[in-house]
Amino acid sequence: MSSGGIREVMAKFERIGSHTHIKGLGLDENLKAVKIKDGMVGQEKAREAAGLVVQMIKQGKLSGRIIILAGPPGTGKTALAVAISRELGPNVPFIQMSGSEIYSTVKKKTEILLEAMRKCIGVEIHEEREVYEGEVVNMTVNTVPHPYNPYQKIPESVRLTLKTTEEEKTIEAGSNVANQLLSAGVSEGYVIQIDAETGRVSPLGLCLESSKGKAYDVDTRKKVPRPSGKVKKTKEFVYTMTLADLDELNARRGGGLFSLFFGGVESGEIGPEVRAEVDRQVKELVDQGRAFIHPGVLFIDDSHLLDLEAFSFLGRAVESELVPIIILATNRGLTRIRGTDIEAPLGFPLDLLDRSVIIATSPYDRDSIKEILKIRAKEEKVKLTPEALERLAEIGDRTSLRYSVQLLSLASQNSRSAGREEVGLEDVERVSGLFLDVSQAVEHLKKYEEKLLKH
Ligand SMILES: Nc1ncnc2c1ncn2[C@@H]1O[C@H](COP(=O)(O)OP(=O)(O)OP(=O)(O)O)[C@@H](O)[C@H]1O
Ligand SMILES: [Mg+2]
Repeated sequence: MSSGGIREVMAKFERIGSHTHIKGLGLDENLKAVKIKDGMVGQEKAREAAGLVVQMIKQGKLSGRIIILAGPPGTGKTALAVAISRELGPNVPFIQMSGSEIYSTVKKKTEILLEAMRKCIGVEIHEEREVYEGEVVNMTVNTVPHPYNPYQKIPESVRLTLKTTEEEKTIEAGSNVANQLLSAGVSEGYVIQIDAETGRVSPLGLCLESSKGKAYDVDTRKKVPRPSGKVKKTKEFVYTMTLADLDELNARRGGGLFSLFFGGVESGEIGPEVRAEVDRQVKELVDQGRAFIHPGVLFIDDSHLLDLEAFSFLGRAVESELVPIIILATNRGLTRIRGTDIEAPLGFPLDLLDRSVIIATSPYDRDSIKEILKIRAKEEKVKLTPEALERLAEIGDRTSLRYSVQLLSLASQNSRSAGREEVGLEDVERVSGLFLDVSQAVEHLKKYEEKLLKH
């Protein structure tokens, strides 16, 4: 059976490009930061704090909390979030979005946030189903003439003999099963599973013990052993999905979590009723011990772009039962809360701050900048002379880390187009002369203020 899997796990790192060197938080077994590890440099306190957060998330102790990453631009907030998602691994849903994504002409802000939150909650569902399972040792499809085109034959029913290590059993099924078998290319020698209730067919692979399974030395088809036990049996299936997946399935089927993995008709939209119904059914399954919740992480980068409405929605949402951990990153200080005239720290409402823990990041010293540049150079497969590295670190220290990381790529482009293998001082000098950093840009604009258009 194909499980839905957790889709969109880390699927959307728009700006992953500059964070590819981040492999984790770089902590030792006592959760202490190692100065340079996993692509991470310095920022020890923030990394250790993030390590505790990861540990608590893994132990399921942190759902419905808000964590704020606060610090000046280019101090590694996004990098930290990327590291957290790496540490959590692929089984914990981690969704990244930017604060700006809530502004859409089609959907309400709260709808976008709610959808994102539901994508971050994993639900592991255990379901017991009656199935017929075995190696196909005989398959006879009965065909009848097509009702509109008598020259064409269509499958009407199928007679199957299935074999397990214990028994052989012959079953008959209608056109639905016959069609599925034919379109999946099933023939003698395959191991299949048929859901007793819905008739859904799942080919599992070629039987190792069958003559077909032994025929070729090189055969890319999947091979499986002949199933043991009886042909008809009860099997447990485990699906890992997200609440958003379940919303979608439920909307399509129009109710009923049961057998929703076994086909259905398309209809309906995801509205509050659908979500409430999914929540109710999931809670019921959890109470019965047939489902487990795995809260993941919703990371909203540049969350100073959120507005009061969004903040109060988040504040309310974290009080409910099925919520992920929410990580907000911002580089703003004391500023207006968007959508109001109220000034507040980080531009966040005070009641939201009250519910949050804050991890602060601070600017890097020149040595750390140098180390980060070295890692980036390695990541981008750029060779740097010591003088070029020194100069880039000095520029980074004077302007910003991000600017120097960008100059590194530009300088490497420059050396490549000049046919040189290694980035030298001259390449760094040339590109830093061609491009402006922010303060140079401001000066430039001031100088030509009179001549620049205003409207
Ligand atoms: N401690 C670190 N170790 C290694 N690389 C880092 C570290 N901190 C930042 N970087 C890298 O430096 C660059 C800038 O950092 P990042 O984008 O994370 O900053 P930010 O705090 O999110 O800035 P902004 O507020 O502008 O969004 C990125 O390429 C990032 O991967
Ligand atoms: Mg950032």
